[in-house]
Amino acid sequence: MRKKIVAGNWKMNKVLDEAVALTSELITMAQDEVQGDVRIILCPPAIYLTVIKKYIENSPNFALAAQNCSDKVSGAFTGEISAQMLQSIGVEYVLIGHSERRQYFHESNELLAEKVNTALENGVSPIFCCGESLKQRQNEDYIGFVKNQITESLFHLSAEQLLSVVIAYEPIWAIGTGLTASALQAQEMHAALRQHIASKYGEEVAQEISILYGGSVTAASAPELFASPDIDGGLVGGASLKSREFTNIIKAR
Ligand code: G3H
Repeated sequence: MRKKIVAGNWKMNKVLDEAVALTSELITMAQDEVQGDVRIILCPPAIYLTVIKKYIENSPNFALAAQNCSDKVSGAFTGEISAQMLQSIGVEYVLIGHSERRQYFHESNELLAEKVNTALENGVSPIFCCGESLKQRQNEDYIGFVKNQITESLFHLSAEQLLSVVIAYEPIWAIGTGLTASALQAQEMHAALRQHIASKYGEEVAQEISILYGGSVTAASAPELFASPDIDGGLVGGASLKSREFTNIIKAR
């Protein structure tokens, strides 16, 4: 059975009081309303990780992800945060390769492979983001483009290492635009990515990896997306900033 995961990427939003209030509301709502096995991963700005960690410590289905980490181990890299630092404060996951980091910070597949390595070496599980732009989607080989992101950043890993990775397929044209990929479009890509993983690591490994969908997920679109056989949950941006909406998305998993 693959893990069901709903992650909320707050991006660069919320001041401290708001971040704490959102966390408290989510914990209460999840306790009262969410049944069954689902991992809820909060991805707040790094500055709040230690604070939020205290709030979630008695809620075993909650975990934390950083939104980024350095590809370097330690040293003179002003402003950077290492995977080892994340591990030392109890952060279990880190987003790697979000399209905003690829676009605005020019992160290449090669650099992301280094980030994946340093995260895994420090016991932090990468949530590896991939996805095509609108221009690439209009090109016939949009599936090949996303497969290649996975090949170049993940296929050097052993099967055991790969099983610590969560993949998040996020078509760039659906991020923050209100344009969700249809369940059919998302399922097509998820199945293709699982097949791609199977071609390198075998069917058993491919069947164990959680692949999340991200891109304008809302409480309205989540049920159909999450009902698709190869979609194991979501990586939610805007809708994760509202406790009621995000809880309803979690309930749809
Ligand atoms: O990390 C989350 C994704 O970028 C999706 O963001 O739900 O606001 O479209 P969004």
